[in-house]
Amino acid sequence: MAAPLALPVPPAPAYALHVRDPAAVSRLTLAAPPLAALVYPAIIWAGPAISPLFLAMALAVPAIGVTAAHALGPASPRARAVALAVVAAPPLYSWLGGLLDFQTTVPLHGLAVWILLWLTLTVVATTGGQTARAARPRPARLAFAHGCSAAIITVFALAHLTNHLAALAGGERHIAVMSALRTVYRAPGVELVLLAAVAFQTLSGLRLLRDHVERTRSWWHTAQVASGAYLAAFFLSHLTAALRARWLRDIDTNWQWLTADSMLTDPWSARLAPYYALSVVAVGVHAALGLRYVLRARGWSPPVSDRLAVAAAAAATAASALIMTALLRA
Ligand code: HEM
Repeated sequence: MAAPLALPVPPAPAYALHVRDPAAVSRLTLAAPPLAALVYPAIIWAGPAISPLFLAMALAVPAIGVTAAHALGPASPRARAVALAVVAAPPLYSWLGGLLDFQTTVPLHGLAVWILLWLTLTVVATTGGQTARAARPRPARLAFAHGCSAAIITVFALAHLTNHLAALAGGERHIAVMSALRTVYRAPGVELVLLAAVAFQTLSGLRLLRDHVERTRSWWHTAQVASGAYLAAFFLSHLTAALRARWLRDIDTNWQWLTADSMLTDPWSARLAPYYALSVVAVGVHAALGLRYVLRARGWSPPVSDRLAVAAAAAATAASALIMTALLRA
């Protein structure tokens, strides 16, 4: 088996080891990302109620999370972890809504939990010590295994997203492509491997994320960590939604299910527009930065590796725009 790839990790700056609640970072700066997440449902509500432009504006909330996660740096690890959760606001809001809004056993609405969650995280981000721990050694074997399961998921994701691009030619084409692909990815052994890879990817990603919260090196790292945080929450939301519909409610999770309620006019489904759009971008950015890491570890020149990564992320963003065009006009 090939040895795990590793680039040298620069030592943590000395200040990262003992800074407590640095006066340079005001409480307002620490509170801004979780407060932005708190108002996220209101922005989504305004989409169908006032103008679809609000659904585009909702993207500002994860953007604030990414910017804060980068700016806060390793000296404010708690606030930085909260900022990364803000990046994942779209999938977290969809997950909570899918889990709580339609059930009758527990008298709890997703929005109530949302408000409680972000008020608590505002307190977490702004109070208490922000002492950073000494940087731990990078778990190279786990990172290698994370890359291996990513390869399995990438093969599926390429087919899955091609399936969604086929919807540009109409819902019938989407269903035809999905029926053909299902004969492969729904074969019992294949589906089990895929679902296990997604579960491992999410859990190992969260473990790797824990160490990255304590390091800041560049925008490349911030983008990788932020897209990883988004994907962990996206997998949780996307798979529980698809499998709950299929296994508990016996629904065929096909194009009709996907487009039954318009994301532009239905008050509940509006949350799915930014959530799906960013999922494709996040998967592209995360995979592109993984590729950049591997190329550089294999001795490729930094400018070439960087350009390839940017090109792959740009291609994913273009694919996201096309997939959303097909979904929104359905
Ligand atoms: C626009 C974005 C997306 C939409 C609209 C979407 C929609 C769907 C739908 C309708 C299904 C059910 C498929 C079936 O019944 O055969 C599904 C399943 C799934 N999706 Fe997505 N998806 C999107 C993005 C992604 C991304 C970025 C990933 C990441 C790899 C992903 C991973 C999965 C997985 C693992 C399954 C379960 C497959 C199975 O075992 O049935 N999806 N998705």
